[in-house]
Amino acid sequence: MARILAVVNQKGGVGKTTTSVNLAAGLALAGRRVLLVDLDPQGNATMGSGVDKRSLARTVYHVLLGLGDVAGIRTRSETGQYDLLPANRELAGAEVELVELPSREARLREALARVEAQYDFVLIDCPPSLSLLTINGLVAAQAVLIPMQCEYYALEGLTDLVGTIKRVRAHLNPGLEIAGLLRTMYDPRNTLSLQVSQQLETHFGGKVYRTIVPRNVRLAEAPSYGAPAVIWDRSSKGAQAYVALAEEVLAREATDEQGQRAGART
Ligand SMILES: Nc1ncnc2c1ncn2[C@@H]1O[C@H](COP(=O)(O)OP(=O)(O)OP(=O)(O)O)[C@@H](O)[C@H]1O
Ligand SMILES: [Mg+2]
Repeated sequence: MARILAVVNQKGGVGKTTTSVNLAAGLALAGRRVLLVDLDPQGNATMGSGVDKRSLARTVYHVLLGLGDVAGIRTRSETGQYDLLPANRELAGAEVELVELPSREARLREALARVEAQYDFVLIDCPPSLSLLTINGLVAAQAVLIPMQCEYYALEGLTDLVGTIKRVRAHLNPGLEIAGLLRTMYDPRNTLSLQVSQQLETHFGGKVYRTIVPRNVRLAEAPSYGAPAVIWDRSSKGAQAYVALAEEVLAREATDEQGQRAGART
């Protein structure tokens, strides 16, 4: 079965989409079968994967509303070599329309269950809010990957996010874990970054990925070429960080599986 990770932070512009797209491509480069779900009406993950969001007749919106299957709506990122369940502005309407529907928080989970066996990883790029869309991401996922910038208010935002994760765990998805916290757009010359980074390690210990994504203009440029930076300029510092992140994610999965097998034996 696939490992399903939601990429979540209600704070805008912290690197969720950059992480989703480049981790998807990094895992695909490592030979894994990947589905990237764009769960944001901005459609940035769709564009960054080289798929024109304006040309799509059907998207994740139709999946959530039960108007189509993932298998019929997913498309391929030719640049990234992964499958993509795309999104565009139409998804903004789902927020309101879902409220009326049964099991409104679990619609993505139910839809993904039918294709999950075809993938090693499903990554869900969530919008910058703790809305019903993000809740669908959290209910569908086994674990949450939290990209964050090391700035003063970052830790405060994290408290809200951890609260939401706890509520989802209590009511909707008991198995939900934090996969890891990822430091993004990191500038080591900034003293505050260093301090916040150290605080993160103190509070979250082993949950903080060792890989740190530096501020790197190639990561910001790649989307305009419709390709993940990991493919478009693999030698750049930013791309190398995401290749390292993919390796770290794979290594953690391997350790977790070993742990689970050992646990099952005892
Ligand atoms: N490490 C980085 N170095 C430089 N620029 C970056 C880096 N990571 C992301 N960016 C740029 O910063 C902006 C925000 O990144 P991104 O879109 O990934 O964040 P997001 O959390 O998905 O935003 P939103 O909350 O709007 O969905 C983008 O223009 C992106 O290209
Ligand atoms: Mg985004």
